Amino acid sequence: MRMIRSSRKLPSLPYFWSLIDWTLPSINPYKGKLKRAQSIQDLALIAKKRTPKVVFDYVEGGAVDEIAYSRTRDAFSRIEFNSRVLRDVSKIDTSEKILGKSVDIPICFAPTGYTRLMHHVGEPAVANVAASKNLIYALSTMGTTSPAELAAAVPNSRRWFQLYIMKNRSDSLAVIKQARDSGFETLVLTVDTPVAGLRYRDNRNGLTVPPKIRINTVFAIARKPIWWLNLFTTGKLEFAAFRGWDKPLSQLAGLIFDPATTLKDITWLRSVWKGPIVVKGIQSVEDAKAVAKLGVQGIILSNHGGRQFDRGPIPLEILPEVVKAVGNKVEIYIDGGVMSGLDALGAIALGANAVFIGRAYLYGAMANGEAGVDQVIEIMRREFENGMALTGATNISEVRKNGARIRSK
Ligand SMILES: Cc1cc2nc3c(=O)[nH]c(=O)nc-3n(C[C@H](O)[C@H](O)[C@H](O)COP(=O)(O)O)c2cc1C
Repeated sequence: MRMIRSSRKLPSLPYFWSLIDWTLPSINPYKGKLKRAQSIQDLALIAKKRTPKVVFDYVEGGAVDEIAYSRTRDAFSRIEFNSRVLRDVSKIDTSEKILGKSVDIPICFAPTGYTRLMHHVGEPAVANVAASKNLIYALSTMGTTSPAELAAAVPNSRRWFQLYIMKNRSDSLAVIKQARDSGFETLVLTVDTPVAGLRYRDNRNGLTVPPKIRINTVFAIARKPIWWLNLFTTGKLEFAAFRGWDKPLSQLAGLIFDPATTLKDITWLRSVWKGPIVVKGIQSVEDAKAVAKLGVQGIILSNHGGRQFDRGPIPLEILPEVVKAVGNKVEIYIDGGVMSGLDALGAIALGANAVFIGRAYLYGAMANGEAGVDQVIEIMRREFENGMALTGATNISEVRKNGARIRSK
């Protein structure tokens, strides 16, 4: 048999020259890495290098053996879309209505406590990205920025406030008043924390409330001097909603979660807050039905990102059943383990109105502050839009119509 041979010629130096990228490496070792980051995981790797271990572990970790979190992530990897071809996908519209108002993409920012620990600008940096992208930002009760400070820093943000029913209802009322006075439109009531989760990573690192910083933790922090410098030159790290309450952290932490909270408290909350209420931390069809019956506007199917109970149901796996049971009564959001635009798209295809992200944006913040959070949304948007085009959907209702399933393996 005659073999095919390629004809050879002399190498073209100008052509080789033209292929070389002559940009000089930056003195900032992270600049190139940030530019080349493709996925949220890439940003997480940069985040890990830039922040002390105790802080990175606080974000990445889950409860006990972290089984719930790995199952939560695994469920997203098993999503399989019904892909349709031969459709005109030259124009893609990712916008969706959340509680009556349009967002550019149905990805919202979940409440996270202590955000200034991850990056010194903290909550306002995240809210600013949310505002610039027409998305929703939820501020945590355990935030390091108060409701008033957030409203002043980013007045045009669409902001929700996350609440716990506290041991003294009058304390909850005082926090609710701050949210109302600062123009927060929706209360997000977290209900999966009757008691605090057992976070072994944090305990091992000495990150408890109040913090017990062991000597090796001090050394670990000292290895990241820029992080250290940023934090300690930009104001005290505190639960800002409780500033001036004159209570030590340990006492406050003991007051924030009331293990005696029941459905009756949702009825109480409806009597003191006239705006929309979203219940976060629903993990069963029965509870979804019970809270929907009380007239709340939305629920977040959530296992707190696997940070509370380490053997609970996986939100994505119960989503289709919950949509069937209460999808015509309340809006249904989901969080936990959303680490890509395709994860978000999968949840929407299975019937969610929107997803919330926690760790994903914190990795962005730890990697590069506000610009890093912005990059997270742009990565997710690119993946989301690409996924829509490749499944033949041009808008969110077509995403839902096409649908998806969760493979067993
Ligand atoms: C560092 C961190 C702090 C959090 N703090 C709160 C909080 O104060 N209140 C709350 O309701 N949920 C809190 N959460 C849970 C998030 O709102 C959300 O449910 C979870 O992060 C979703 O999972 P994901 O991180 O895998 O996206 C926190 C999560 C993280 C990672």
